[in-house]
Amino acid sequence: MREQEFEYIRSLVYERSRINLGTDKRELVSARLGKRLRATNLSSVSDYCDLLRSPGAEEELAHLIDAISTNHTFFFRENAHFDFLRQTAVPELAPAVAARRGKFRVWSAACSSGEEPYSIAMTLAGCLADSSWHIESTDISHRVLTKAVAGIYRNETVSRLPADFLRMHFQRGFGPQEGNYRVKATLRDHINFQQLNLLDGEPPFTEPFQVIFCRNVMIYFDNATQTELVNRLARRLVPGGYLFVGHAESLSSIRHPLKSVKPAIYRRSVQS
Ligand SMILES: C[S@@+](CC[C@H](N)C(=O)[O-])C[C@H]1O[C@@H](n2cnc3c(N)ncnc32)[C@H](O)[C@@H]1O
Repeated sequence: MREQEFEYIRSLVYERSRINLGTDKRELVSARLGKRLRATNLSSVSDYCDLLRSPGAEEELAHLIDAISTNHTFFFRENAHFDFLRQTAVPELAPAVAARRGKFRVWSAACSSGEEPYSIAMTLAGCLADSSWHIESTDISHRVLTKAVAGIYRNETVSRLPADFLRMHFQRGFGPQEGNYRVKATLRDHINFQQLNLLDGEPPFTEPFQVIFCRNVMIYFDNATQTELVNRLARRLVPGGYLFVGHAESLSSIRHPLKSVKPAIYRRSVQS
């Protein structure tokens, strides 16, 4: 891939998703574009750039962002957050929610293929009444969302889950589905999945959240973008609500109104 092609792809990806591809990502981008060249039957990156510049390129742009973004995730990743949710956030915040007959609301803001929101769901199912909680789950990538909505995972993916979680919340596939496990509808029904670019203005939710998970996505954004995003997320929390970020994503260099309470856990003031 030539320098000018990399620069073009890089600025397009930034403009669309704010994913900030450093110059060190050239090899990675090149490898990931390979898949799009095959899918579009084009033989060079130069032709692919022409396709992206042509009218009606919207669909291919979505595929490009899908191909570039890193979707790596797994069940109960950074497990301390799920312990904190069960042991601290729910006991502190759920009584006020119950008093007004509302729902304990959690947003998984870059949910990838669903392992994160289903881990949240398994946690909440263990400590809240069935009708009293709801999860919004969003990602920029249509491809991963399709997988998240289906809730079907390979044996290798679920094998490290505690046996009782597997029994309680998954159906084992038979015949052509041998080796697959599907999240039961009783859990899936608590989650609303939708495509959302976190940097596309205000998210379309009317009610605030007790907890927001926005993990392992901010590492791709520059400082100004992180500041904009964290402040936007903070406004979506109830007073006293919590924001969980990835453990590699310190918010210490950006201005925001949240208080750091533990590594990778931030809280909106109870008074605000
Ligand atoms: C590495 S995964 C993290 C998944 C999960 N939160 C976790 O921690 O395991 C990052 C996800 O962020 C999504 N993403 C990247 N840029 C985004 C944006 N601007 N808006 C929403 N999601 C985005 C990617 O599609 C990807 O699924």
